[in-house]
Amino acid sequence: MTESTEVVSFPQDRTCPYHPPTAYDPLRGERPLARATLYDGRTVWMVTGHAVARDLLADQRLSTDSTHESFPVPTARAAEVIRDQPRTVLLGQDDPVHNVQRRMLIPSFSLKRTADLRPRIQQIVDGLLDAMVEQGPPAELVSAFALPVPSMVICELLGVPYADHEFFEEQSRVLLRGRKAEEIRAALDRLQGYLGDLADAKRADPGDGLLDQLVVEQYATGRIDRQELIDLAMILLVAGHETTANMISLGTFTLLQHPERLAELRTDPTLMPRAVEELLRFLSIADGMLRVAIDDIEIAGTTIRAGEGVVFPTSVINRDTAAYADPDALDWGRSARHHVAFGFGIHQCLGQNLARAELEIALGTLFARLPGLRLAVPAEEIPFKPGDTLQGMVELPVAW
Ligand code: HEM
Repeated sequence: MTESTEVVSFPQDRTCPYHPPTAYDPLRGERPLARATLYDGRTVWMVTGHAVARDLLADQRLSTDSTHESFPVPTARAAEVIRDQPRTVLLGQDDPVHNVQRRMLIPSFSLKRTADLRPRIQQIVDGLLDAMVEQGPPAELVSAFALPVPSMVICELLGVPYADHEFFEEQSRVLLRGRKAEEIRAALDRLQGYLGDLADAKRADPGDGLLDQLVVEQYATGRIDRQELIDLAMILLVAGHETTANMISLGTFTLLQHPERLAELRTDPTLMPRAVEELLRFLSIADGMLRVAIDDIEIAGTTIRAGEGVVFPTSVINRDTAAYADPDALDWGRSARHHVAFGFGIHQCLGQNLARAELEIALGTLFARLPGLRLAVPAEEIPFKPGDTLQGMVELPVAW
């Protein structure tokens, strides 16, 4: 046996919003592969070692095909939804199809494009903070700031009217955290209907967003069909705001709980890019990437057999002592850059440059504008999200 002999169930709820679930503690520092059980009793591989995780995420013998009968779905409700509505784009495809789709989008998320967006992101952040200050303390930071920043940015980038934000934020909330499969299916239908209507309107009268460009260059020319366009729009809209919103809320909470680190950032704001990278590693909000082996893979003295599921709890992987000294410490001095908080390999986050820019501007400006920012209620009373979804704060009551 080269894998750990411990078997835990996956996923697990965190006990502290910024630390890996304590249920994984027996596996940490052990061998890089463990066994885990899913809600339905199936056993899968759980990757805990950083080097092995990167090797496996770069290995095309692991597939993201969620329709594969052995794909490791984390909950019963996710299984029902995937059965009815398999993912058809990007994260749901392996190469070569994945590559064709991804190449249509890469230029819009390049470092250069993202740098061009920075002044507009700053304006959005300033406007939201102006409104918060005008209203006066206390405030609920998720709805007043953490969610609207990425939501407004992705809307502008895509060419989706922000006026409809309450509608699509609610649908994405249900998609990611709804408890009943019918409820999730209904949200999916509503969102698809909305994006389909938007695509038709853009075909008749194109504007200058990324969706308009996809309509003109890909859909109108027959390179992709209407459903593929809708699916691409949906993944960009949902992934573009829920993820970054969770990083802003959980990042703020974590900084408030680490006053020495916050003081260092205030003394030297040029540390912000390093701090964002370290927060991405430390918080690992996408705490469970999923794959299925489509061929046997020999790794770390073990064979992962074709047809076996593999799960990647990023919180554990990003705190591997073989990759990071004193990994449970938040430390702006370390180089965190090779973390897997954005994944690794062909599916590595398409929006990572944008997310970094949003996080640097949002967190930097928030703490500069509100030097007295503090939690408005005791930390233990603030609800955070369960383990089967993106990690983050449900609400964040603050005062200043
Ligand atoms: C801090 C914020 C974010 C985090 C932590 C994050 C995390 C991730 C992770 C872990 C993956 C890989 C999943 C896997 O391999 O199973 C991923 C993929 C992806 N992300 Fe992000 N993401 C963030 C922000 C964004 C933003 C702002 C966008 C903008 C549209 C975005 C769009 C995507 C897309 C389209 C994919 C799929 C890429 C592919 O399959 O080729 N993400 N993200």
